[in-house]
Amino acid sequence: MEKGLTSVKALVLAGGSGTRLRPITHTSAKQLVPVAGKPVLFYGLEAIAAAGITELGMVVGDTQAEIEAAVGDGSAFGLQVTYLRQEAPLGLAHGVLIARDFLGDDDFVMYLGDNFIVGGITDLVARFTRERPAAQIMLTEVGDPRQFGVAELDGAGRVVGLEEKPARPKSDLALVGVYLFSPAVHAAVAELKPSWRGELEITDAIQWLIEEGLRVESSVITGYWKDTGNVTDMLEVNRLVLESVEPRVSGHVDAASDLVGRVVVEPGAVVERSRVVGPAIIGGGARIRDSYVGPFTSIGASCTITGSEIEYSIVLPRASIAGVGRIESSLIGHDVEVTPAPHTPRAHRLVLGDHSKVQISS
Ligand code: TTP
Repeated sequence: MEKGLTSVKALVLAGGSGTRLRPITHTSAKQLVPVAGKPVLFYGLEAIAAAGITELGMVVGDTQAEIEAAVGDGSAFGLQVTYLRQEAPLGLAHGVLIARDFLGDDDFVMYLGDNFIVGGITDLVARFTRERPAAQIMLTEVGDPRQFGVAELDGAGRVVGLEEKPARPKSDLALVGVYLFSPAVHAAVAELKPSWRGELEITDAIQWLIEEGLRVESSVITGYWKDTGNVTDMLEVNRLVLESVEPRVSGHVDAASDLVGRVVVEPGAVVERSRVVGPAIIGGGARIRDSYVGPFTSIGASCTITGSEIEYSIVLPRASIAGVGRIESSLIGHDVEVTPAPHTPRAHRLVLGDHSKVQISS
């Protein structure tokens, strides 16, 4: 399909409350947390543009200003972005409800802004426009389906039922955060009542379509998918993307430093008397001194790492870490300061935001 020729629109959900990523989400949008130096949302926008879609509605909440500052009018991605304000995170189907006018009578792909999918959506969109079911969902096999929306399929792969976080799952096929809908979904959404958690559930809307006898198709994806809504999965996606970075040194690395493997040093970054073992990214303007940066680490722009070791972590812009030994498997927010305490008395001194999580080895 030629770029821009499809009339399929995109609806990206980039609001939400992000409770699982607190305290990061108290002050910033989880969809903008960088994985391998690029906001997770941007990977989705690129996949949408690559599928030939140009018109995109972005559902936003309290973090609208931040999302708008990052995405703008979408032209950097070859997209035309319309922002759709959701007054409160009232559910994925509520996102469809408030987008009713924007979507008109066009088919659309709904993409959850914190989801990460390898392999793009081009084939899925092409199949949908060819077969035109009422809805097409993407599924993936998961180890513990009880944490996900789960689909039950008939022998032909048609969806016969959906359940949200079932105690006794009927399959191990979980819904991935990309859905394709015909305008038939609007009648379903209009009928919905809030679920026990007070949200309009997209799974209920799809179930409604099935019960109306409409065709709901599924594709089981074999590629990688993660919902980056929690720290463990965010770090895992960071690892995966870093696996394929091309090494590049645009900043300054002194003679007393060592870069091993695939390391990106962005412009303006300085690495002194340090060892960086890739895959890793050192963001623009960051300063790494007398430190070790280990594999699967993304250091944000203008961070300072001094006399410390850090591995398998994401550090957001302008954070500073000095003289604290080794840090692993951590997500460190914007402008955070991590410093050593005086030797006596031996005590931890903490100023932690609401909902922070700290593991201290003592
Ligand atoms: P979720 O991660 O399912 O929900 P959440 O953001 O409220 O997070 P948590 O469960 O940790 O509290 O949302 C998936 C995506 O959809 C994410 O990008 C946020 C977005 N979203 C909306 O835009 N509006 C909504 O009403 C909801 C529930 C989510």
